[in-house]
Amino acid sequence: MYRLLFNLFFKPLDPELSHQIGEKVLKLAFKLRIIRPRPANSKFSVMGLEFDNRLGLAAGFDKNAKLVRPMHALGFGHVELGTVTPLPQPGNPKPRSFRVPEHNALINRMGFNNDGAAVIADRVLRLRAENVPLPVIGINVGKNKWVEASAAADDYRTCTRLVAQAADYLAVNVSSPNTPGLRDLQQVETLRPILEAVIEESLGKPVLLKLAPDLADEDFIAALNLVRDLKLAGVILANTTIRRDGVGNSEVLKEVGGLSGPVLASRAKEMLVAARGQLGPGFTIISVGGVSNPQEAKERIELGADLVQVYTGFIYGGPLWPARLARSLH
Ligand SMILES: Cc1cc2nc3c(=O)[nH]c(=O)nc-3n(C[C@H](O)[C@H](O)[C@H](O)COP(=O)(O)O)c2cc1C
Repeated sequence: MYRLLFNLFFKPLDPELSHQIGEKVLKLAFKLRIIRPRPANSKFSVMGLEFDNRLGLAAGFDKNAKLVRPMHALGFGHVELGTVTPLPQPGNPKPRSFRVPEHNALINRMGFNNDGAAVIADRVLRLRAENVPLPVIGINVGKNKWVEASAAADDYRTCTRLVAQAADYLAVNVSSPNTPGLRDLQQVETLRPILEAVIEESLGKPVLLKLAPDLADEDFIAALNLVRDLKLAGVILANTTIRRDGVGNSEVLKEVGGLSGPVLASRAKEMLVAARGQLGPGFTIISVGGVSNPQEAKERIELGADLVQVYTGFIYGGPLWPARLARSLH
Protein backbone atom coordinates (compact mmCIF):
# COMPACT_ATOMS: atom_id res chain seq x y z
CA MET A 1 0.00 0.00 0.00
CA TYR A 2 2.77 2.44 1.00
CA ARG A 3 4.66 1.46 -2.17
CA LEU A 4 1.62 2.33 -4.27
CA LEU A 5 1.09 5.69 -2.54
CA PHE A 6 4.84 6.37 -2.68
CA ASN A 7 4.94 5.70 -6.43
CA LEU A 8 1.79 7.73 -7.11
CA PHE A 9 2.31 10.78 -4.93
CA PHE A 10 5.82 10.99 -3.54
CA LYS A 11 8.08 9.63 -6.27
CA PRO A 12 7.31 12.40 -8.77
CA LEU A 13 8.08 15.04 -6.10
CA ASP A 14 11.43 16.41 -5.03
CA PRO A 15 12.53 14.23 -2.05
CA GLU A 16 12.82 17.24 0.25
CA LEU A 17 9.29 18.38 -0.60
CA SER A 18 7.91 14.87 0.01
CA HIS A 19 9.78 14.87 3.33
CA GLN A 20 8.06 18.14 4.30
CA ILE A 21 4.64 16.80 3.27
CA GLY A 22 5.30 13.52 5.11
CA GLU A 23 6.25 15.51 8.21
CA LYS A 24 2.92 17.38 8.16
CA VAL A 25 0.91 14.18 7.57
CA LEU A 26 2.66 12.42 10.47
CA LYS A 27 2.11 15.33 12.84
CA LEU A 28 -1.57 15.41 11.93
CA ALA A 29 -1.92 11.63 12.27
CA PHE A 30 -0.38 11.90 15.72
CA LYS A 31 -2.60 14.82 16.73
CA LEU A 32 -5.70 12.92 15.59
CA ARG A 33 -4.43 9.89 17.54
CA ILE A 34 -4.36 7.75 14.38
CA ILE A 35 -0.85 6.79 15.49
CA ARG A 36 0.07 6.53 19.19
CA PRO A 37 2.94 5.10 21.16
CA ARG A 38 2.31 1.60 22.49
CA PRO A 39 3.67 0.73 25.91
CA ALA A 40 6.83 -1.38 25.58
CA ASN A 41 6.65 -5.01 26.74
CA SER A 42 10.25 -4.94 27.87
CA LYS A 43 12.99 -2.34 28.13
CA PHE A 44 16.63 -2.51 27.08
CA SER A 45 19.25 -0.82 29.16
CA VAL A 46 22.12 0.66 27.13
CA MET A 47 24.52 3.37 28.40
CA GLY A 48 22.40 3.50 31.56
CA LEU A 49 19.36 4.59 29.51
CA GLU A 50 16.13 2.61 29.17
CA PHE A 51 15.10 1.97 25.55
CA ASP A 52 11.67 0.59 24.44
CA ASN A 53 13.49 -1.38 21.74
CA ARG A 54 16.81 -1.47 19.88
CA LEU A 55 15.70 0.56 16.86
CA GLY A 56 16.46 4.25 16.39
CA LEU A 57 15.86 6.98 13.87
CA ALA A 58 19.23 8.10 12.49
CA ALA A 59 20.32 11.75 12.56
CA GLY A 60 19.17 14.00 9.74
CA PHE A 61 15.53 12.94 9.55
CA ASP A 62 14.26 15.03 12.47
CA LYS A 63 16.90 17.73 12.47
CA ASN A 64 14.76 20.21 14.38
CA ALA A 65 12.96 18.10 17.01
CA LYS A 66 9.55 18.45 15.41
CA LEU A 67 8.72 14.76 15.10
CA VAL A 68 9.87 13.19 18.35
CA ARG A 69 6.48 11.92 19.51
CA PRO A 70 5.18 10.80 16.08
CA MET A 71 8.44 8.86 15.52
CA HIS A 72 8.05 7.21 18.92
CA ALA A 73 4.51 6.26 17.93
CA LEU A 74 5.79 4.69 14.70
CA GLY A 75 7.96 2.35 16.77
CA PHE A 76 11.34 4.03 17.23
CA GLY A 77 12.86 3.43 20.65
CA HIS A 78 15.23 6.33 20.20
CA VAL A 79 15.43 9.36 17.98
CA GLU A 80 18.69 11.13 17.19
CA LEU A 81 18.00 14.81 16.50
CA GLY A 82 20.19 17.10 14.40
CA THR A 83 22.81 17.56 13.29
CA VAL A 84 22.44 20.72 15.35
CA THR A 85 24.86 23.63 15.00
CA PRO A 86 25.42 26.45 17.54
CA LEU A 87 23.73 29.04 15.31
CA PRO A 88 20.90 28.33 12.87
CA GLN A 89 21.99 27.90 9.25
CA PRO A 90 20.12 27.39 5.96
CA GLY A 91 22.23 24.56 4.52
CA ASN A 92 23.15 24.19 0.86
CA PRO A 93 21.06 25.47 -2.07
CA LYS A 94 18.23 23.20 -3.28
CA PRO A 95 17.94 20.66 -4.80
CA ARG A 96 20.14 18.89 -2.26
CA SER A 97 18.51 15.50 -1.82
CA PHE A 98 18.07 12.83 -4.54
CA ARG A 99 16.56 9.37 -4.81
CA VAL A 100 18.54 6.55 -6.41
CA PRO A 101 15.65 4.09 -6.89
CA GLU A 102 17.68 1.35 -8.58
CA HIS A 103 19.57 0.92 -5.29
CA ASN A 104 16.80 1.96 -2.85
CA ALA A 105 19.33 4.64 -1.97
CA LEU A 106 19.55 8.40 -1.42
CA ILE A 107 22.17 11.04 -2.09
CA ASN A 108 22.11 14.18 0.04
CA ARG A 109 24.14 17.34 0.43
CA MET A 110 21.85 19.10 2.89
CA GLY A 111 24.72 20.86 4.69
CA PHE A 112 23.36 20.93 8.26
CA ASN A 113 20.24 23.02 7.64
CA ASN A 114 18.80 23.46 11.14
CA ASP A 115 17.10 25.89 13.51
CA GLY A 116 20.14 26.18 15.79
CA ALA A 117 21.03 24.64 19.14
CA ALA A 118 19.13 27.01 21.45
CA VAL A 119 15.78 26.66 19.63
CA ILE A 120 16.07 22.90 19.28
CA ALA A 121 17.07 22.40 22.93
CA ASP A 122 14.11 24.53 23.99
CA ARG A 123 11.74 22.40 21.89
CA VAL A 124 13.00 19.22 23.59
CA LEU A 125 12.83 20.72 27.07
CA ARG A 126 9.22 21.77 26.45
CA LEU A 127 8.40 18.20 25.42
CA ARG A 128 10.02 16.88 28.56
CA ALA A 129 8.01 19.33 30.67
CA GLU A 130 4.78 17.88 29.24
CA ASN A 131 5.50 14.64 31.07
CA VAL A 132 4.40 12.48 28.15
CA PRO A 133 5.94 9.19 27.01
CA LEU A 134 9.06 9.91 24.99
CA PRO A 135 11.69 7.82 23.26
CA VAL A 136 15.33 8.14 24.26
CA ILE A 137 16.47 11.41 22.68
CA GLY A 138 20.00 11.76 21.33
CA ILE A 139 21.24 15.10 20.07
CA ASN A 140 23.83 15.04 17.31
CA VAL A 141 26.15 18.06 17.44
CA GLY A 142 28.19 19.74 14.70
CA LYS A 143 29.81 23.06 13.90
CA ASN A 144 28.61 25.97 11.80
CA LYS A 145 29.81 25.96 8.21
CA TRP A 146 31.76 29.22 8.47
CA VAL A 147 33.80 28.15 11.50
CA GLU A 148 37.41 27.29 10.64
CA ALA A 149 38.95 23.96 11.66
CA SER A 150 41.21 25.82 14.14
CA ALA A 151 38.10 27.01 16.06
CA ALA A 152 36.11 23.79 15.65
CA ALA A 153 36.56 22.52 19.23
CA ASP A 154 35.10 25.78 20.60
CA ASP A 155 32.09 25.49 18.30
CA TYR A 156 31.41 21.89 19.37
CA ARG A 157 31.78 23.08 22.96
CA THR A 158 29.23 25.87 22.46
CA CYS A 159 26.81 23.53 20.73
CA THR A 160 27.08 20.90 23.47
CA ARG A 161 26.65 23.50 26.20
CA LEU A 162 23.39 24.61 24.57
CA VAL A 163 21.86 21.15 24.11
CA ALA A 164 23.31 18.92 26.85
CA GLN A 165 20.53 19.48 29.35
CA ALA A 166 17.88 18.49 26.78
CA ALA A 167 19.66 15.34 25.56
CA ASP A 168 19.71 11.78 26.89
CA TYR A 169 22.91 11.21 24.91
CA LEU A 170 25.14 13.27 22.65
CA ALA A 171 26.55 12.26 19.28
CA VAL A 172 29.56 14.07 17.85
CA ASN A 173 29.30 14.37 14.09
CA VAL A 174 32.66 14.83 12.39
CA SER A 175 31.68 12.64 9.47
CA SER A 176 29.20 14.49 7.26
CA PRO A 177 30.57 14.94 3.74
CA ASN A 178 28.55 18.12 3.20
CA THR A 179 30.37 20.65 5.37
CA PRO A 180 33.73 21.46 3.75
CA GLY A 181 36.65 20.10 5.78
CA LEU A 182 34.43 18.52 8.48
CA ARG A 183 35.63 14.98 7.93
CA ASP A 184 39.27 16.05 8.30
CA LEU A 185 38.37 16.59 11.97
CA GLN A 186 38.34 12.79 12.33
CA GLN A 187 42.15 12.82 12.53
CA VAL A 188 43.14 12.24 16.16
CA GLU A 189 45.07 15.51 16.59
CA THR A 190 41.97 17.55 15.73
CA LEU A 191 39.49 15.06 17.14
CA ARG A 192 40.93 14.93 20.65
CA PRO A 193 40.24 18.60 21.60
CA ILE A 194 36.73 18.36 20.09
CA LEU A 195 35.86 15.26 22.11
CA GLU A 196 37.42 16.70 25.27
CA ALA A 197 35.34 19.86 24.85
CA VAL A 198 32.13 17.88 24.32
CA ILE A 199 32.83 15.65 27.34
CA GLU A 200 33.45 18.72 29.51
CA GLU A 201 30.09 20.22 28.55
CA SER A 202 28.11 16.97 28.50
CA LEU A 203 26.77 17.14 32.08
CA GLY A 204 27.80 13.50 32.41
CA LYS A 205 25.51 12.36 29.58
CA PRO A 206 26.85 9.55 27.36
CA VAL A 207 28.90 10.85 24.41
CA LEU A 208 29.18 8.86 21.17
CA LEU A 209 31.35 9.55 18.14
CA LYS A 210 29.87 9.17 14.65
CA LEU A 211 32.40 8.23 11.98
CA ALA A 212 32.47 8.06 8.18
CA PRO A 213 32.61 4.80 6.21
CA ASP A 214 35.31 6.32 4.01
CA LEU A 215 37.90 6.56 6.78
CA ALA A 216 41.18 4.79 6.05
CA ASP A 217 41.60 1.73 8.30
CA GLU A 218 44.48 3.22 10.28
CA ASP A 219 42.54 6.45 10.96
CA PHE A 220 39.52 4.41 11.99
CA ILE A 221 41.56 2.38 14.47
CA ALA A 222 43.22 5.56 15.78
CA ALA A 223 39.79 7.13 16.35
CA LEU A 224 38.60 4.01 18.19
CA ASN A 225 41.67 4.10 20.43
CA LEU A 226 40.88 7.72 21.23
CA VAL A 227 37.30 6.74 22.12
CA ARG A 228 38.74 4.21 24.53
CA ASP A 229 41.35 6.61 25.99
CA LEU A 230 38.82 9.36 26.59
CA LYS A 231 36.26 6.87 27.94
CA LEU A 232 33.51 7.90 25.57
CA ALA A 233 30.30 5.86 25.73
CA GLY A 234 30.86 4.49 22.23
CA VAL A 235 30.55 4.98 18.49
CA ILE A 236 27.95 5.32 15.75
CA LEU A 237 29.00 3.51 12.57
CA ALA A 238 28.52 5.01 10.10
CA ASN A 239 27.61 8.13 8.15
CA THR A 240 26.98 8.39 4.38
CA THR A 241 29.72 7.69 1.80
CA ILE A 242 31.16 9.88 -0.92
CA ARG A 243 32.31 6.75 -2.79
CA ARG A 244 30.43 5.54 -5.84
CA ASP A 245 32.27 2.32 -6.70
CA GLY A 246 30.23 -0.68 -7.72
CA VAL A 247 26.97 1.27 -8.04
CA GLY A 248 26.87 1.92 -11.79
CA ASN A 249 26.94 5.26 -13.52
CA SER A 250 23.39 6.60 -13.81
CA GLU A 251 23.10 10.41 -13.98
CA VAL A 252 21.88 10.81 -10.39
CA LEU A 253 24.96 9.03 -9.04
CA LYS A 254 27.01 11.97 -10.35
CA GLU A 255 25.32 14.28 -7.82
CA VAL A 256 27.74 15.49 -5.16
CA GLY A 257 26.88 14.36 -1.62
CA GLY A 258 26.63 11.42 0.72
CA LEU A 259 25.18 8.15 -0.54
CA SER A 260 23.04 6.08 1.86
CA GLY A 261 21.04 2.86 1.75
CA PRO A 262 21.84 -0.84 1.17
CA VAL A 263 25.08 -0.02 -0.68
CA LEU A 264 26.50 0.93 2.73
CA ALA A 265 25.66 -2.36 4.41
CA SER A 266 28.86 -4.32 3.88
CA ARG A 267 31.17 -1.48 4.97
CA ALA A 268 28.95 -0.73 7.99
CA LYS A 269 29.22 -4.38 9.07
CA GLU A 270 32.97 -4.46 8.51
CA MET A 271 33.35 -1.37 10.73
CA LEU A 272 31.04 -2.84 13.35
CA VAL A 273 33.04 -6.05 13.65
CA ALA A 274 36.37 -4.19 13.71
CA ALA A 275 35.09 -1.76 16.36
CA ARG A 276 33.72 -4.51 18.60
CA GLY A 277 37.08 -6.28 18.35
CA GLN A 278 39.01 -3.11 19.12
CA LEU A 279 36.78 -1.73 21.89
CA GLY A 280 35.68 -4.92 23.60
CA PRO A 281 32.30 -5.33 25.29
CA GLY A 282 32.36 -2.24 27.51
CA PHE A 283 31.47 0.30 24.81
CA THR A 284 28.20 0.96 23.02
CA ILE A 285 28.05 0.54 19.25
CA ILE A 286 25.15 1.87 17.21
CA SER A 287 25.14 0.33 13.74
CA VAL A 288 23.66 2.44 10.93
CA GLY A 289 23.95 2.25 7.18
CA GLY A 290 21.95 0.13 4.81
CA VAL A 291 19.59 -1.59 7.23
CA SER A 292 16.69 -2.39 4.91
CA ASN A 293 15.01 -5.50 6.36
CA PRO A 294 14.62 -7.44 9.65
CA GLN A 295 17.38 -9.96 8.78
CA GLU A 296 19.86 -7.16 8.22
CA ALA A 297 18.85 -5.50 11.50
CA LYS A 298 19.18 -8.77 13.41
CA GLU A 299 22.57 -9.44 11.85
CA ARG A 300 23.85 -6.11 13.21
CA ILE A 301 22.91 -7.17 16.73
CA GLU A 302 24.50 -10.59 16.20
CA LEU A 303 27.70 -8.89 15.01
CA GLY A 304 27.92 -6.90 18.23
CA ALA A 305 25.77 -3.78 17.87
CA ASP A 306 23.77 -2.64 20.90
CA LEU A 307 21.38 -0.52 18.89
CA VAL A 308 20.50 -0.14 15.20
CA GLN A 309 19.49 3.05 13.40
CA VAL A 310 17.81 3.61 10.04
CA TYR A 311 17.12 6.49 7.70
CA THR A 312 16.96 5.48 4.03
CA GLY A 313 15.19 2.15 4.68
CA PHE A 314 12.43 4.10 6.42
CA ILE A 315 11.96 6.37 3.38
CA TYR A 316 11.51 3.34 1.09
CA GLY A 317 9.74 1.17 3.69
CA GLY A 318 7.08 3.63 4.86
CA PRO A 319 5.36 4.40 8.16
CA LEU A 320 4.52 0.82 9.19
CA TRP A 321 8.04 -0.42 8.57
CA PRO A 322 9.79 0.75 11.80
CA ALA A 323 7.38 -1.10 14.13
CA ARG A 324 7.89 -4.32 12.13
CA LEU A 325 11.64 -3.90 12.23
CA ALA A 326 11.64 -3.09 15.95
CA ARG A 327 9.61 -6.23 16.72
CA SER A 328 12.12 -8.36 14.82
CA LEU A 329 14.87 -7.13 17.14
CA HIS A 330 13.29 -8.52 20.31
C1 LIG B 1 18.86 13.26 3.79
C2 LIG B 1 19.84 12.81 4.83
C3 LIG B 1 20.30 13.71 5.79
C4 LIG B 1 21.21 13.30 6.76
N1 LIG B 1 21.64 14.20 7.70
C5 LIG B 1 22.49 13.80 8.67
C6 LIG B 1 22.90 14.71 9.68
O1 LIG B 1 22.48 15.85 9.74
N2 LIG B 1 23.78 14.23 10.62
C7 LIG B 1 24.27 12.96 10.63
O2 LIG B 1 25.05 12.59 11.51
N3 LIG B 1 23.87 12.07 9.67
C8 LIG B 1 23.01 12.47 8.72
N4 LIG B 1 22.61 11.57 7.76
C9 LIG B 1 23.19 10.21 7.76
C10 LIG B 1 22.29 9.19 8.47
O3 LIG B 1 22.12 9.52 9.83
C11 LIG B 1 22.89 7.77 8.34
O4 LIG B 1 24.13 7.74 9.01
C12 LIG B 1 23.11 7.35 6.89
O5 LIG B 1 22.05 7.80 6.07
C13 LIG B 1 23.24 5.82 6.75
O6 LIG B 1 22.05 5.17 7.16
P1 LIG B 1 20.91 4.64 6.12
O7 LIG B 1 21.59 3.81 5.08
O8 LIG B 1 19.94 3.89 6.98
O9 LIG B 1 20.30 5.87 5.53
C14 LIG B 1 21.69 11.96 6.77
C15 LIG B 1 21.21 11.05 5.81
C16 LIG B 1 20.30 11.46 4.86
C17 LIG B 1 19.81 10.45 3.84
